[in-house]
This record gives sequence, structure tokens and C-alpha cells, in this order.
Amino acid sequence: MSEHSVDRLEILPVAGLPEFRPGDDLTGAIANAAPWLRSGDVVVVTSKVVSKIEGMLIRVPSDPEERDAVRREWVEKEAVRIIARFGRTLVTQNRIGVVQAASGVDGSNVDKGEIALLPTDPDASALALRNGLRERLGVEVAVVVTDTMGRAWRVGQTDAAIGSSGLKVLHSYEGEVDGQGNELQVTEIAVADEVAAAADLVKGKLKATPVAVVRGLSLVDDGSTARKLVRPVEEDMFRLGVAEAIAQGRREAVLVRRSVREFTDEPVDPVLLRRSIAAALTAPAPHHTKPVRFVWLRDRGLRTKLLEAMRESWLADLRADGFTDEQLAKRVSRGEILFNAPEVVLPFLVPEGAHTYPDARRNDCERTMFTVAGGAAVQGLLVALAAEELGSCWIGSTIFAADVVREVLGLETNWQPLGAVAIGHPTTAAGVRSLGQPDGLVEL
Ligand SMILES: Cc1cc2nc3c(=O)[nH]c(=O)nc-3n(C[C@H](O)[C@H](O)[C@H](O)COP(=O)(O)O)c2cc1C
Repeated sequence: MSEHSVDRLEILPVAGLPEFRPGDDLTGAIANAAPWLRSGDVVVVTSKVVSKIEGMLIRVPSDPEERDAVRREWVEKEAVRIIARFGRTLVTQNRIGVVQAASGVDGSNVDKGEIALLPTDPDASALALRNGLRERLGVEVAVVVTDTMGRAWRVGQTDAAIGSSGLKVLHSYEGEVDGQGNELQVTEIAVADEVAAAADLVKGKLKATPVAVVRGLSLVDDGSTARKLVRPVEEDMFRLGVAEAIAQGRREAVLVRRSVREFTDEPVDPVLLRRSIAAALTAPAPHHTKPVRFVWLRDRGLRTKLLEAMRESWLADLRADGFTDEQLAKRVSRGEILFNAPEVVLPFLVPEGAHTYPDARRNDCERTMFTVAGGAAVQGLLVALAAEELGSCWIGSTIFAADVVREVLGLETNWQPLGAVAIGHPTTAAGVRSLGQPDGLVEL
């Protein structure tokens, strides 16, 4: 059995350290101030002093507004990825991989005319200090470099390890059995972060005690460093802030639609279908009319009857065009998608409320106006379905067999078919389309 906790722990402040400036000897200062260090101790150092001695200080103007502007510039420069914006606060993934407010750029505990960036490689800084302390005092210690950060789901900040050397940063309990006989499966303790937070209870933020020693841990060095505590992006469920995720989802809604012609056998949840149709029916229409109807063809027998009748009508058209039987068979086999799709919805235009004019030209225009409104609603349906991760394909065939459709379904003569929509779960996930240079954009 392996356990990361111990029965008793001491946390000792390293008192009497000077105010550090670029180029200062941190190792020497700690060795002088803590000659009592012992092998097995963990020396916990606030990253601010590491930043200072490594010269990671930026001069800023004294005017508070200008100072803030420079600070913001550095926050963006230090960011590899912007995760979220909360009002004026930027949460980023910074150069060293850590997700943190303001990329770790900070104006506390530095001169008024300066701000501090995080050390470039805190694991290397920790290793250098560890080696230095071995040389000066002959002790084998571990070193943790800390920074203060907020935590998802929790109010308040704690210190966490951004650099380390000489201790196993993670302790996994996977496969271990607790006192009640339960096997632990996912418990993995971020030991280096716990050490950082514990040391902060002694270091504090206002006392000018940037270094503390945690004594009494049973140290294991497996060569891991704090870098291991950075969650890889692909495993990160929260790689975007909530607002950013919603915005990206909205931006991509139109781009996830594409014609899907092969579906799995998985049934379509009626709730999703109704929700998509309801969303589609919010499409714009002329004169405040509601000219679109979606017929959800739930009765399989009725669907087959309709499709067979449409096929007959199509064959009659093709025969009249002079196609041979062989050519006809080939053509007709393309119409199988509506027979096989898990669900089929038929959009119709019912141009109630359309204006009539004394001349044919304006009546034509009115018809076009209603037809485009029908198209808008169908596209809305396809996009809403895609946003629900349902695939669809708009098939034009009912438009060419309007009388047959009305007859089989018993619909009024003013119901004008706008095609059929095959719906189901796609066999392959297609992802988001990238936006290239749009061919159809004309700017005048
Ligand atoms: C009014 C209309 C009728 C369509 N009819 C068919 C059809 O009969 N069969 C088919 O496979 N696709 C049909 N489509 C889908 C187009 O082929 C498809 O939109 C086009 O190839 C572009 O691919 P995308 O939808 O994946 O962007 C139709 C599309 C529209 C708008």
C-alpha cells in the first residue's frame, strides 16, 4: 500500500531574507538564512522572488492607467491561448502551460514602477536551486516554486506548484483499497500543489516571507516536475470559458450542417426533432405570415406508400423523356435515402396571407417571396438539427410530384411541397466546415 500523507508535518518560515533584485544569489541567501535545512526537506519558494532574480521585471509608467495598459499588453504577450474573459480579467494558458488569470503577470510585491512576469522555466529554476543547496549545505532537498491561482468551481485562490524538482508531483491511488474495502479508481493527489498551498499558510502574502520549508514528508523522487500537473488541452473539458464556448457554438452552428446521406440505426429522439422544427418555424416570412408547415411522416406505412407513388410518377416522367429501362433502374435506385432514413419530415409552403395583384408580374414576385421564406425555414431546420448533432439531407423530389404528395397525404391544393428532409444520426462525424474565401460574395 502506498500513502502520500504523513502523521505529522512542520512548516518553517525562512526568516531574514533580503529584498531580491535581478542577478541576486537566491541559493546563497537561502543557505545563509536557513543553515538548519536537512535532507528530505521541501524548500518552497514564491515564484515572485525567482522572477526577480531572473530579471523577469518590466518597467511600467507611474500613471495608473498607462501602467494598466502595459500590464494588459504583457498579459496578452505571455498568453499562448486565451481561455476566457471575465469583465476585465483575462484567463489564459501562459508560456509555461499554466491556465491562470492574467497569464501570471502581477504587480504585487514588486516596486510600484514594475510588474513581474513568471520565470521562463520554473522547473529549471527549482532544479538549479536544489543543486545549489546540495553544493552549499550538503543536503538533498526538494524544491517547489509556487504561484497563487484561482481554481475552477471554487471561490478563492490557493498556491500551486508551477515548478518543482526532487519530489513526485502526483500520487496515484488507482487500484488501492481504502479502510472500508473500496477500490480507489480515479484518486490522484497533486502532492506538489498541496505542498505549495501548505507552505503559503506560513509564507503569507504580506509578511515578506517568500520561502518556507515543509519538513516531515516522506519524499519520493520519480523525476517528475510541476510541468506534469498541467492538464493536456485534449483532456481539458474546460479549455474555453463558458461565454467563449457559447459564442463558438453559435458561430459554428451554420458550419456544422452538411448533407448527410447515410444514417445509423439509432432512433432519433422526438424531443430533438420537435425542438429543431420549432426553431425552424421562427424563420422570417412576408407580411407577418406563417406560411411554412413541417409534416413529420411518422407512419412508416404511409411513408412507403407515398414514396412508391412518387417513384411511379417519376418513372412516368423519365419514360416520357425516352430513358431505357436499364437507365431508369439506375436512376431510381438513387431515391432510396427517403425509404431508409430513420425519420422524414416534409416541408410545405401554404401561402396564406399572400397578396394578390392585378398583374402576373407582381403575383410572380409574391410567389417568389413566399418560396424564399420556405427555403429559409428549411435551412433553419437543417441547421437546428445539425446543432443537435443530427444529420439531414434535403431532397427535392416532392417538388416534382406535388399532386401525388397532396393526394396520398390528403392535403389541400394550396399545400406546396418544398422537398423532403431525411433525418438520422450520421454514420460518420463530419466536424465543422472551415470558412474559405466565399465565392458567392460580391461587394459593391
Ligand atoms: C432544394 C434542394 C434539393 C435537393 N435535392 C437533393 C436530392 O434530391 N438528393 C440529394 O442527394 N441531395 C439533394 N440536395 C442536397 C444538395 O445536393 C447539397 O446541398 C449539395 O450537394 C451541397 O452539399 P452540402 O449540403 O453538404 O453542403 C438538395 C438541396 C436542395 C437545397
